[in-house]
Amino acid sequence: LASAEIDVSSIELGQRVTVTWRGQPVFIDRRRPETISEMQAVDVSQLKDSQTDEMRVKQDEWLVVVGVCTHLGCVPLGQGDGDNRGEWGGWFCPCHGSHYDQSGRIMKGPAPKNLVVPPYEFKSDTLLAIG
Ligand code: FES
Repeated sequence: LASAEIDVSSIELGQRVTVTWRGQPVFIDRRRPETISEMQAVDVSQLKDSQTDEMRVKQDEWLVVVGVCTHLGCVPLGQGDGDNRGEWGGWFCPCHGSHYDQSGRIMKGPAPKNLVVPPYEFKSDTLLAIG
């Protein structure tokens, strides 16, 4: 199947869920208001891959990114309870130490790009279609 439909109604605020799309993990993060404000306030001019949070989401509460490190393709940690989320509280790639923030932007380490935002749309308030 080229596209995946996910019912997001049971995902709680602050919860991260992993789904599979085209054989790849996709991270869905239902972000808290304080996280959203923090990510929107980041000065992106100094970032390696300069993208505002607004450029990376369709609805502020929902971050949707491909869970594959843009360095050499490992799956970053951060989806599980107690996982190392890195220095910016987003995701941490243990392969060579890349740290991503809670918008999936690369902050430190060898990864050249932010975590990729896949094509997706909300078909309703609770139905997310990826691909
Ligand atoms: Fe993630 Fe190298 S594959 S840091």
